[in-house]
Amino acid sequence: MTQDELKQAVARAAIAYVVENEIIGVGTGSTANFFIDELARIKHRIKGTVASSEATAARLRGHGIAVFDLNDVAEMAVYIDGADEIDHSGAMIKGGGAALTREKIVASVAKQFVCIADGSKLVDVMGRFPLPVEVIPMARAAVARALVKLGGTPQLRLKPGTQEAFVTDNGGYLLDVAGLSITEPKALEEKINQIVGVIAVGLFAARGADVCLLGTAEGVKTLKF
Ligand code: A5P
Repeated sequence: MTQDELKQAVARAAIAYVVENEIIGVGTGSTANFFIDELARIKHRIKGTVASSEATAARLRGHGIAVFDLNDVAEMAVYIDGADEIDHSGAMIKGGGAALTREKIVASVAKQFVCIADGSKLVDVMGRFPLPVEVIPMARAAVARALVKLGGTPQLRLKPGTQEAFVTDNGGYLLDVAGLSITEPKALEEKINQIVGVIAVGLFAARGADVCLLGTAEGVKTLKF
């Protein structure tokens, strides 16, 4: 099976976690896009969605699915999203698609976090995928120095094909931090959260996944944490 077929399989399996007549939190990225396309088939069975990025909101609306402002939503049954890496405790690295801050906010409101990922994303120790950290632009260099003290090698994310900084939906910059071996994800998340100028870190450990639907050649495996 190709990676896209595995992503499609987990996206389809995630439909079983969609709660009828409720608002569903929807993530960002290629796996989340497959999920949005599956969700479109049952859109009449949900109240609507909250999107974790402008790109996701546009895709949902393109399918005629209602997108609510998070400020108008008090409760959310489930949040469904991909991951760049997930470990055996359900902690994740996210933000390869630049939407980590809104993903973390929407996930924080949801009762259940369902991660959908192809099998290549499951790792024993996270950190091979550079950890994205969203920062206030004026704090870029100061935060980078603090991340070096934590043992990482931060690199400013650029707009593809340019030398200009990539700007997130929130007006932030992204530092992609290589060289970390994340053996204690909750402790590292807490430390990075405390660096002044950080908007959010793409380490989802304090609020990790409750369930991971993992696409493998043998079928979709369900991991519970
Ligand atoms: C978006 O900011 C990310 O957190 C994505 O959820 C993550 O990068 C997974 O993306 P893919 O499904 O494209 O691998």
